[in-house]
Amino acid sequence: MCGIFGIVGNHDQQLGEILLGAARRLSYRGYDSVGCATIDARGHIDLRKDVGKIDEVNERLDFAAMRGQRGMVQLRWATFGAPSVENAQPHLDSNGALIGAHNGNIVNNVSLRERFMDEGLTVRGTNDGESCVHAVESHVNQGNGILDAIRKAARDLQGDYAFVIASKDTNESDPAMYAIKNGSGLVVGIGDGMTCVSSDLPSILPLTRKILRIKDGETVSLWPDRVEIRRVNDGLIVEREPEMFTEGMDAAEKGGYAHFMEKEIHEQPQAVAELIHWLVASPHVEPFLDSMRKARHLYLVGCGTSYHACMIGASYFNRLAGIPAIPVLAPQFTETLASILTPDDTVVLVSQSGETKDVLNALNAARRSNATLLGILNVLGSTLMEASDHYLPLACGYEISVPATKTFLNQVVMFLYLADQLRAGGPEIDWDSLPGLIEKTLHATDAAARRAAEILNTHNEMYYLGYGMTLGVAMEGALKLKEITYAHCEGMLSSEFKHGPLSAVYEGYPVLFVSGPSDAAMMVNHISEVACRGGHPIAVACEDGLLRKNVSEYVVIPDAAQEIATLLAVLPLQLLSYHMSLLRGLDPDFPRNLSKTLTVD
Ligand code: AGP
Repeated sequence: MCGIFGIVGNHDQQLGEILLGAARRLSYRGYDSVGCATIDARGHIDLRKDVGKIDEVNERLDFAAMRGQRGMVQLRWATFGAPSVENAQPHLDSNGALIGAHNGNIVNNVSLRERFMDEGLTVRGTNDGESCVHAVESHVNQGNGILDAIRKAARDLQGDYAFVIASKDTNESDPAMYAIKNGSGLVVGIGDGMTCVSSDLPSILPLTRKILRIKDGETVSLWPDRVEIRRVNDGLIVEREPEMFTEGMDAAEKGGYAHFMEKEIHEQPQAVAELIHWLVASPHVEPFLDSMRKARHLYLVGCGTSYHACMIGASYFNRLAGIPAIPVLAPQFTETLASILTPDDTVVLVSQSGETKDVLNALNAARRSNATLLGILNVLGSTLMEASDHYLPLACGYEISVPATKTFLNQVVMFLYLADQLRAGGPEIDWDSLPGLIEKTLHATDAAARRAAEILNTHNEMYYLGYGMTLGVAMEGALKLKEITYAHCEGMLSSEFKHGPLSAVYEGYPVLFVSGPSDAAMMVNHISEVACRGGHPIAVACEDGLLRKNVSEYVVIPDAAQEIATLLAVLPLQLLSYHMSLLRGLDPDFPRNLSKTLTVD
């Protein structure tokens, strides 16, 4: 997840330290490259950028020494184009007159680059941020002023993004910098003889607490002493009063949420939208699909939450695409299946960190067989990414909270997307509607999840049961509960419950059932076995009359097809765990004994 920051002052000054400070405060979002640009009063642009961490790159390029009246810094998290100096941002236009940087994904980047090359523009890299600059340049070349060129460029750029752009040639009356928001975050700060703009608040707050929040479909023009917001579609001025931000830095980093976990749960609609946009446009998907289609055996390998995504993924491949896929825990894979792999097999290794030792052990064991090794990961540049034959990024941005939430959902969405592509009759899913459905589910289930948390909080052991596709969801929900509430919660197949665990049930014993729409009738049998022994059954499912009659509590998720309802069902379980963790006075972001990246056996 990239980050941008731009600043406009009224005289040449040492901007380097300010840009470095802003970069460090954006760095929690995750990045692989960093770049700074300044423009002095004479219109001279100083651009320095490279791959690496802020402090190493600063040591090489001396950002700290940069001077100017205006400046911008960008942290890049690679999606389009490998991490490289050319792809690092900011970017110049063909003649070095405009400079800009973006945050987000331009999904039609490939076709835009071809268009710009046909127009004779100088395209230096493959990064989509460069396309934002050329899109503006292209309209400036047709005689438009910069603001109109930005508004017209917005019609060309598809995807979710925000970008800042400045021209070296400006009069005092012209805006010194411009920005536009379309799907990615953008906040403006108004200080004393200075204005600034950024992807989020933490980089602005040390400079000023006077804030203006920009909305989607708006541009903002910055002068040293004022800003002007206009609508993209008709260019009309938007009047908006600045607000004073009174909370601390910690609150700013958490985007107004109490914990990173809560923030990351609520980032899921956007994370899914960005992943889908990326997948639709990415040339990396086809080699993946090809290896899956051709596989004699297809194994999905991971640990913990990533393994649960593999379980759901296997159901998707089996049931939607008719491709037998086998989910395996990474250490078990190493101990059992790795030794019988052949070059015709495909192993998909799934890990948000890309550094989990158990997963890397499985990868190394599988490598000996010449099977095709595919990686699905969130952290670009990770060992898994480097060692895989092909990889797909989860495109979630940085996940700080130890309990995985948005990376899990994007793993499941990734599998669903791949399975949908592999269907015999071609894709069927309406991908555009999924982010909205996720948003709706978070809103619709929060109160019921909170109520369920209050009930479960009075117990220290319980079961979560799933059936078919929802088994992985039940197991993931149970893991999330154990991880951040320290209660014992076992996730298992609902039909297995009668084979032993049923003896644990007593009056009021809580058992939560996660049901897909097509499993409701079967699930009611399993619910009855608990209810008739005095247990307290809770359902997480789409509305179903039969289920409603048989449970004590019902967390209703929006109506959806089986494969979509399956992934929606995890959302209230994340919320439930979060609420219960708070009821217990625990910090869900940093549960005891656990680490975000497990690099030990
Ligand atoms: C998830 O909430 C856990 N923190 C944990 O189970 C995690 O999923 C597991 O350690 C695997 O991590 P990975 O995805 O980085 O490989």
